[in-house]
Amino acid sequence: MVITSAATHPDEQDECLSSTFASRYVRQPIPKFKMPDHSIPKDAAYQLINDELMLDGLPRLNLASFVTTWMEPECEKLILASLNKNYVDMDEYPVTTELQNRCVNIIANLFHAPLSEQETAVGVGTVGSSEAIMLAGLAFKRKWQTKRKAEGKPYDKPNIVTGANVQVCWEKFARYFEVELKEVKLTEGYYVMDPVKAVEMVDENTICVAAILGSTMTGEFEDVKLLNELLTEKNKETGWDTPIHVDAASGGFIAPFLYPDLEWDFRLPLVKSINVSGHKYGLVYPGVGWVVWKSKDDLPDELVFHINYLGSDQPTFTLNFSKGKPSCAKPILSYAFAIVVDKKGYKNIMENCWDNARTLRKGIERTGRFNIISKDIGVPLVAFSLKDSSQHSVFEISDQLRKYGWIVPAYTMPPDAEHLAVLRVVVREDFNHGLAERLAADIDKVVKLLDTLPSPITTNAAHVTPITPEPNQKINKSDIETQREISSYWKRLLEGKKLGAC
Ligand SMILES: Cc1ncc(COP(=O)(O)O)c(C=O)c1O
Repeated sequence: MVITSAATHPDEQDECLSSTFASRYVRQPIPKFKMPDHSIPKDAAYQLINDELMLDGLPRLNLASFVTTWMEPECEKLILASLNKNYVDMDEYPVTTELQNRCVNIIANLFHAPLSEQETAVGVGTVGSSEAIMLAGLAFKRKWQTKRKAEGKPYDKPNIVTGANVQVCWEKFARYFEVELKEVKLTEGYYVMDPVKAVEMVDENTICVAAILGSTMTGEFEDVKLLNELLTEKNKETGWDTPIHVDAASGGFIAPFLYPDLEWDFRLPLVKSINVSGHKYGLVYPGVGWVVWKSKDDLPDELVFHINYLGSDQPTFTLNFSKGKPSCAKPILSYAFAIVVDKKGYKNIMENCWDNARTLRKGIERTGRFNIISKDIGVPLVAFSLKDSSQHSVFEISDQLRKYGWIVPAYTMPPDAEHLAVLRVVVREDFNHGLAERLAADIDKVVKLLDTLPSPITTNAAHVTPITPEPNQKINKSDIETQREISSYWKRLLEGKKLGAC
């Protein structure tokens, strides 16, 4: 690499150092995968990296994500002020620790943990719901194993029952911590875990049933109350005491404000732990999640580590140790939010998200081309599928929308509904009425444009192998069969082009 650095050309030093564009310093490419042999000035490095980052999508137009993309400027000041703190060091940063504890209590109270006036809640701040879920899952696994050992029963085949619609973090938990994942398959028109089937799958090795408050795929809340009733009956019949975990990653900051009478949390006897993402509808930038347990008894003591090398006895129950970067600021921000945006404020924000989701939904319905898959209650999002995908697919719509700046993911549903491919728009606080109308108009433009383009199905037909009937076989396909066939064409044609649903 040849660089015209300040050091090699002192005459040009000022000009170079104050230069805006790094190309003035760099005449040859900088190695991408090896450390360079020569350094470059820091402002040039800044410019180069910043220029490359400009090609990332605009976070606020990323409608694939549930994660917060806008916060008040005051919050950004708090983040900057805490950037260099490692908040695992509770002795050094006791106030940060105290704010985290306040957040745990605020959240536990929001979820109706049975706490007396003097009692503090049991829970911890995490990097996100994924870490929270690993911790909750580990606690269930350890409790189950301890009980089985005490009963002299085998404890080497733990399983967990979930819907097939669970987020990938549950699959990770199962694989990393050697727990069999028993998934309740979805069915046509019912895209969340069926509590009846879930309870049927429970056996003596089930460490817990995990229900989702706000399915990643459709935003729908699973029926935790019915699950609790059915599981209570099964526990009575069998003598087991299979508990429930609620993955409220998205719904945990929605349900308490919009649906206060919906019973899904610690009001239900079998719900022993709940996770929620602070960085989703907790309205804080990425890097914070929470897990809370109903009581001290639900978190086995042996999972809590005590360290004293940072200055005092510090109980820790997390997968990470050091937590710096903005994540330190997150408990502070979460607390700031809880006091600045009171219950009424949260309710307003969530209602507003829903108003915008309804505007978008109406606009999409007006095109006449889509079926709406998401429900009117749940996480404010619109999931929709094409009524007719025989010529063009939701994946093409997703691609075309990128040209307007929108990032809208298209994906196929989990088993046994994988024939259905959907688009999903997550409505966050920073998505407004005007943007909803604009997006609906752009979707309309895209479907009309696709009408004028040749179908990849017909143009690429030579590259895919259609399902050919046996000779003399009578073809009498149902709508679902046709849909399945078309979906499988699309899947093969567009392999690798899908955006993930996160
Ligand atoms: C239902 C559900 N659970 C867990 C997660 C993982 O959350 P996080 O990104 O906070 O780790 C997600 C993320 O979208 C989710 O939707």
